[in-house]
Amino acid sequence: MERQLTSQTGSLIVVGMGIQLAGHLTLGAKAWIEQADKVVFALADPVAAKWLQELNPTAEALPYNTQNLRRRDTYREMTERMLEEVRRGLQVCAVFYGHPGVFATPARAAIAQAKKEGFFARMLPGISAEDCLFVDLDADPGKNGCQSFETTDFLIRRRKFDPTSMLILWQIAMVGNLGFYQPNRYQQGLKILTEVLEKDYGTDHEVIVYEAAVYYPVCSPVIERMPLAKLPEAKVTEVSTLYVPPRAIAPLDREMMARLGIESTEEKR
Ligand SMILES: C[S@@+](CC[C@H](N)C(=O)[O-])C[C@H]1O[C@@H](n2cnc3c(N)ncnc32)[C@H](O)[C@@H]1O
Repeated sequence: MERQLTSQTGSLIVVGMGIQLAGHLTLGAKAWIEQADKVVFALADPVAAKWLQELNPTAEALPYNTQNLRRRDTYREMTERMLEEVRRGLQVCAVFYGHPGVFATPARAAIAQAKKEGFFARMLPGISAEDCLFVDLDADPGKNGCQSFETTDFLIRRRKFDPTSMLILWQIAMVGNLGFYQPNRYQQGLKILTEVLEKDYGTDHEVIVYEAAVYYPVCSPVIERMPLAKLPEAKVTEVSTLYVPPRAIAPLDREMMARLGIESTEEKR
C-alpha cells in the first residue's frame, strides 16, 4: 500500500463506507481499514459500526456531542480525536459514511491539520447519497446538468440556480439550524425554502424527498413525491435530501451551435 515518507511516523487515511451497509465499501478502503493500527468512525448506522468492528477490532466511534450549541464545535472535537491518535505515531484510518469528502467537515479538517503537522494524510473517495440518488431517481447529471447545495447555505447566500437543470438540496431537515436535528424544528425553514423555490418552479412542480436505502436489497429507498406547495408538510429526517427535477429543457443557443459547427440534425437531445 502506497505511503509517502514524511517527517512524522503517524498517518491518517480517511475513507468512506458508502450508504449501503458493507456493499459500497471499495476494496482500497477495506484494505486500509484492515491494516490500520487504529480505526475511528462516524457512521449513521449502528449495524455498520458493528460490521466495521469485525473488520478491525480497534474501531471506536468518534465523539459526537449533541450538547454543543453548534455542530462546528462538535466537528472540532471529532477532528481533535483523530489527531490525538495520529500524534501517538499510529496509522489511523477514519471511516465516514457516504463519501468522506462530501459534507463531512471533520474529515477534511483532520486531513488538513495532519498535513500541517507533517503527517502523511490522504482521503479516498466513497459512494455518496447523491450517487445513490442518480440511480434511484433515474436522474443523469449528464443530461441537463446538476446543481447541489447545502439547504441553509442555498438560502442564506441566495445561491443562483438554473431551474432547467436538476437541483439537489442536502440537509433539508437542518434548514436554518446550525445545531443538531430536532423533529419539530424544520417546518418554518421548509416553508421559507418553498417560498423561494416557488418563484422559479411554481406551486405544482413535483419535488421529491429522498432517502437512499441503507439495508438494500432488504429495504427500498424512500421516494416521497409531492407538489412543491406541499413541501412544508413533508416529514423529513437527518438523512433526507430534496430533489427538484428541471422545470423545462433549456433552449438552444443557435448562434453558439453555429460557432461550434454543430449541425441542426444534432440539436435534439
Ligand atoms: C452530513 S451529510 C453526509 C453526507 C455523506 N458524507 C454522503 O457522502 O452522502 C448528511 C446529509 O447527507 C444526505 N444523506 C445522508 N444519508 C442519506 C441517505 N441515506 N439518503 C439520502 N440522503 C442522505 C442528507 O441530505 C443528509 O442531511
